[in-house]
Amino acid sequence: MPTRVKDLLSRPAVTCTATATLTGAARLMTDAGIGSAVVTEEGKVVGILTERDLLRAAAAGAPGDDAVSAWMTANPDVLSPDEEVGAAWQSLTHHHYRHLPVVDGSELVGVVSLRDLVRIARVRPPDEAGTDAPPGLEGVIVAETELGDVRGEEGFFHYRQYSAIDLASKCALEDVWYLLFFGAIPGSAERADFDARVRGMRNLPSGLRDQLPALAAAGAPLGILRSAVSILGSELDWKPILDLDHDELVEQALRLCAVVPTILAAAWNLGRGAPVIEPRPDLGATENYLWMLDGIEPTAARARAVERYQILTIDHGFNASTFTARVIASTGADLAAAVCGAIGALSGPLHGGAPSRALAMLDEIGSPERANLWLRAAVERGDRVMGFGHRVYKTDDPRSVFLRDVAGSLGGSLADFAAKVERTAVDVLAELKPGRRLYTNVEFYAGVVMSSCGIAREMFTPTFASSRVIGWTAHVLEQAAHNRLIRPAARYVGPSAPQPLPRTTAS
Ligand SMILES: CC(C)(COP(=O)(O)OP(=O)(O)OC[C@H]1O[C@@H](n2cnc3c(N)ncnc32)[C@H](O)[C@@H]1OP(=O)(O)O)[C@@H](O)C(=O)NCCC(=O)NCCS
Repeated sequence: MPTRVKDLLSRPAVTCTATATLTGAARLMTDAGIGSAVVTEEGKVVGILTERDLLRAAAAGAPGDDAVSAWMTANPDVLSPDEEVGAAWQSLTHHHYRHLPVVDGSELVGVVSLRDLVRIARVRPPDEAGTDAPPGLEGVIVAETELGDVRGEEGFFHYRQYSAIDLASKCALEDVWYLLFFGAIPGSAERADFDARVRGMRNLPSGLRDQLPALAAAGAPLGILRSAVSILGSELDWKPILDLDHDELVEQALRLCAVVPTILAAAWNLGRGAPVIEPRPDLGATENYLWMLDGIEPTAARARAVERYQILTIDHGFNASTFTARVIASTGADLAAAVCGAIGALSGPLHGGAPSRALAMLDEIGSPERANLWLRAAVERGDRVMGFGHRVYKTDDPRSVFLRDVAGSLGGSLADFAAKVERTAVDVLAELKPGRRLYTNVEFYAGVVMSSCGIAREMFTPTFASSRVIGWTAHVLEQAAHNRLIRPAARYVGPSAPQPLPRTTAS
C-alpha cells in the first residue's frame, strides 16, 4: 500500500488570521513546535506563514506587530489527505516549499512538511527507493531521440521521419548519413559538398598507418578496429566531448565514419598478408569500401546490394552498441572512447556477431532435406538458432524481408537454400518454442547478401560496423547536445552488510 498524505501529516494545523501579528503567529508556532501557521479566514485557507517568512521579515527589519498578510504566501498549493506521498514530495521539492496545508474538501486537516517526508524516507528500506527495471531493460525508455525508432509489433523502423526500407530502396548511403547528421536528405549541391568533405577524410593518419601491421598480426578485423579507433583518437588529439563545441564534434564524427572503412579494409588485407589498398576519392562510400577490400571495382549490382545492407544497419533504436556509445558519451569522454565501447558491444554474438554464425549453420545443415532434423535437434539441445529471434521484433524483421529480396535479386544457390531453411526454421521454432514469436532477423540474410557479394565471413560483422558507426556517432552528437550523465542503480542482492571482516593472520 502506498503511503498517503494522511498517514504522515501533522495535525491539527496551527492557524492564525491574516490580520494577526508576526509576533503572535511566531509564538503559536513555537508553542506547537511546528514551522508554519496556516492562515485562514472563515475556515478557508488563504495563506501560509512559515519560519522562512519570519526570517525574511526579521532580515527586512519588519516590526513584530506587522500583519501576517504582509509576509505570508497567499493562496498556497494544498494537498488532499488521500494523495500519495510521492505527489506531496514532488509538489514540495519542485516549488521549493517546506510546508503545505492539507485540505479535505474545504476543511483544513493538517500540514505536511518536508521534515515529515524526510522522516519516512529514512525509515523506508533503501531497495524501495529506486524504480525497478526488467532485466535487460526490455521496453524501458531511457532517452529521447530524433534519430529514429523501431516499431517491433508492426515490423517497421525509420530514420528520422523516413522509412528505413524506403531509404535503402531509393537513396545512397551518403544521403542517409547526411540525413542522420544534419536532419534532412541533402539536395544535389549539399550532397556534392558533403561528398567532397567526407571523401577527403578517408585516408589513414600516418601514426595509425604505421601501427596497423602490428595490430593486424595479432587480431581479427573488428578487434583491430577497436584498437585502431583508440589510436586514432590519441593521434588526432581528440579532446573530451565535454570540452568540444558542436561543430568540432561533427567534424570528428565525420572523420571517424569516413576512415572506419579504410581501417577495416586495411586490417583485412594486412591480416591475409596482402598490401593495403588506398581509398579512391572518385568512388562513393560503398564502392570505395568494396574496392579497398580486394582492389576490384565492384559491379553496380554488387555495390548496390552491399549499400542497401549498410543503409539498413546504420541505426536501429537503442540497441546495445548504441546505448553503450551514449552511456560513454554521457560521461563527457572523447568520441573514440564512445565508439570503442560500441564496437565492443557489437562484437557479441547476440548483437552483431551473428551473421557469420548463421552462414556456418547453413554450411552445417548442408541441404534443405536435412534442415528439419538439424534445427529440431539444435532447439531441443537448447541452442539458439542464429539469425532468428529479436528483442524488439515479434513479427518479421523488415530488414530480413528486404534483404531476402536483395539476396534473391543477386541470384545463386545460397539465396535459394537460405529461403528454404528459413521457412523450416520458423516452423520448427513455432512448434518447439510456441508463443515466443521467433522470426528471421537481419543477421540471417545479411550473411547471405554479403557472401553473395564476395565479402569474406571474417568481414561480416566489420561491414556491419562500417555503417553502424554512422548511427553511433549520430547518437553521440545527440547525447552531447542534451547531455545528462547516464547513471542507473543496481539492487544489491549479496549477503547482508555490514559484516565483520574475516580474521586474517596479518596485522
Ligand atoms: C536476439 C536475441 C538475443 C533476443 O533475445 P530475447 O529477446 O532476449 O529473447 P529471450 O532470450 O528472452 O528468448 C525468449 C525465448 O525464445 C527462445 N529463443 C529466442 N531466440 C531464439 C533462437 N534464435 N533460437 C532458439 N530459441 C530462441 C529462448 O530460448 C527463450 O525460450 P524460453 O522461453 O524457453 O527460455 C535472441 O533471439 C537470440 O539469441 N537470437 C540468436 C542470435 C541472433 O540472431 N542475434 C542477432 C540479433 S539481431
